[in-house]
This record gives sequence, structure tokens and C-alpha cells, in this order.
Amino acid sequence: MTLILGIETSCDETAAAVVEDGQRIISSVVASQIDIHRRYGGVFPEVASRQHVLSITPVIEEAIVEARVSWDDLEAVAVTYGPGLAGSLLVGVNAAKGIALGCGLPLLGINHIEAHIYANWLLPLPPPAPLNPPNFGGKGGEEKRGRLLPPPQSGGGKRGGSIVFPVLCLVVSGGHTELILMSGHGRYQRLGGSLDDAAGEAFDKVGRLLGLDYPGGPAIERAAKYGDPTAFDLPRAWLGDSYNFSFSGLKTAVLRTVQQYEEGKVPVVDLAASFQAAVVDVLVEKAKRAAHEYHATQILLSGGVAANKLLRQEMAGRSDLPVLCPPISLCTDNAAMIAGAAYFRYQAGYRSGWDLDVIPNLKLTSATQFG
Ligand code: KG4
Ligand code: ZN
Repeated sequence: MTLILGIETSCDETAAAVVEDGQRIISSVVASQIDIHRRYGGVFPEVASRQHVLSITPVIEEAIVEARVSWDDLEAVAVTYGPGLAGSLLVGVNAAKGIALGCGLPLLGINHIEAHIYANWLLPLPPPAPLNPPNFGGKGGEEKRGRLLPPPQSGGGKRGGSIVFPVLCLVVSGGHTELILMSGHGRYQRLGGSLDDAAGEAFDKVGRLLGLDYPGGPAIERAAKYGDPTAFDLPRAWLGDSYNFSFSGLKTAVLRTVQQYEEGKVPVVDLAASFQAAVVDVLVEKAKRAAHEYHATQILLSGGVAANKLLRQEMAGRSDLPVLCPPISLCTDNAAMIAGAAYFRYQAGYRSGWDLDVIPNLKLTSATQFG
């Protein structure tokens, strides 16, 4: 049994988690700064790093207490060292170094994008056990605890079960839109990515254009439920045969449409639904085509935008391959995915030195290969 403490501070979530053998989440604590950044309509980097400084110690302590483990039970400390905001990453990396040095544990610097992919290996957190479990005679609610459940499917009803390489990974978050062929643990080939805004960034910017709450992704999803996705014929940037993405034309099209209406008369829900459908359409078609071309056995969705139910449903429904996706709480930033990814690197002998530094623009392919 290998217990790893994971730490994540790359953007606006201060998170710590203890994960067993890269799969079983023993504890996962996420302190979100969303309420603080809402007033700025986006993440304010200086404020984010100061907030991480305030939250990091209590968040790590809570993760240890919640896991009911002692420092001696840990085998390694893992931390995101990029990509992300420099001032935010520094807080996590320094905290991890302090703990690793103080406890005599190995330190592992983890790539945030790789960790999003490894969220697919994590088992969903069991629901909290009731204090007074009802007695159904014999086997009670306890049966489900710690059981190996296949990663959850949504929408299409196809079940994935275990992960068999090569897999096609679509990582869609506030900072990244990446199509990656993963041929083994730590083996990545980047097939394409966004040429401008990341998918989540486009959701956030369009959310702001429509006067919706921050962050835009969940707000657009909520508004879209009441809208007609065919109300506006918004552009899809197919970019020929490439596996790159571009969302700036779509964003401009939404802006132009909004400008045609008087204030207060903008058809927000129809625009939200049409925008969401356009983004999902391109993401699904490109992932499907890449998976087919590179003979992937499965499609793995991850990143904050993978919390979007339409994307989950359409990907599962339109692809003839099994589609895996972490539970919604593990799509957005968390530290369980950091500890999860670290386990596979730890097993392969990967260790970071005490000179580990943050790399704000770290690329996935530059991550040390292993496996
Ligand atoms: O992975 P994440 O927490 O942070 C980054 O690594 O960037 O992703 C955050 C992004 C935000 O842009 C947010 O608007 C988007 O994920 N997001 C969503 C949804 N939930 C979060 N986008 C679309 N639909 C959602 N339900
Ligand atoms: Zn992220």
C-alpha cells in the first residue's frame, strides 16, 4: 500500500489529498477561491497566490486529519510544478518541499495536464457513511466502500472498465484544450490543441458577454438547459484535417449577436445553448476522428470542461469507443489527481530534486518519460 500526499495550487484552488496506490482517495480537500475572484470576473494572479499562502497549511492539515493517517504513513509528497500561474505554483512547491524535507520523504513534481488525465484512474469517493446505517439484513451500505468501481460513464451507457492503451485523451480546462495520444504510462503524443482560447476560457469569456455568473462554464450549462441549441447558427472552426482548435471566431460571433440586441433583450439562454452546442460539436468530432485514426481503444475526457454534461453525453453517444470521464468533482482542479498521477511515476522510480522549480508554461511532452 503506497500512500502519497498530493498538493495542487496551480490556479485558484488550494488542494491537498491522500491517495492510496494511485486509485483510492483517502481524503481530498479543495479550498476554492471562486468567491474571491468573482468580483474581478476572472482569476487575479496576485490575489490567488496570496490566498494560497493563507490556505495551504490548513488545507494540508485537513487532508491528513481527514485521511486518519500520520506523516509517517506517507511514502511520498507530490506537487504540481506547472503549467499554471507562477506565484500560485510557488506556494504549493515550497510547501511540498518543506514537508518532504521535514519528513524525509521523496518529492515528485507533477505536470498538471498529466494529472488531469490520471483523474480517470481514480475511484469515485464513496458517499459518506451514515452515522446510523439502516439495517437491510445482512449486507449493508458498507459493501460499496473501497470496492473497485469502473470509472463512471455518462450518457451513452457504454462501460469502460479498465484502461487499455493506446487511449485518446481530450483535456479541456480553463487553461488547456489538448488532444493527446497516450500509448502507455507517461507516454504522450500531442496531436493538437487550441490555437487561441482554451475551451474553458471561451466558456468563461462568453459567460461574461452574456452577463452570467463566474465561472462561465457551469453558468452557461445552467442557462443552456432552458435554451434552444439550434436558435443561432454559430460557426465551428474545423481547421481542415488538423487536430487543432480555435474558439475566437465563435466568441466573436456571440459578441456580434449580443450587440444586435438592446440591453436586457439579449436571448441569453438560446445563445448559451447554441454556443455550448458549437463547442461540444467540435470537441467531440475531433476527438472521435483522432481516436479512429490512431487506433485508440478508449477516449478519456478530463479537465474542468469535462464536467459539462452535454460534452459527456455527446462524446459517449457519438463515439463507438468506450468513453471514460472522472466524476464531476474530479474534473475540476483537485489534488487527488496529483497524488494519483504521482503514484505511477513513483513506481517507475521517478523523483524530483530539491531544486525543483515551477514551470508556468510546462508542456506535457516535456514531462520526464517513464513506463
Ligand atoms: O480544470 P479546471 O478546474 O482548471 C484549469 O486547469 O483551468 O477548469 C476550469 C474551467 C473553467 O474555465 C470553467 O468555466 C470550466 O472549467 N468548467 C466548465 C464546467 N465546469 C467548469 N465548462 C463547461 N461546463 C461546465 N459544467
Ligand atoms: Zn486544471
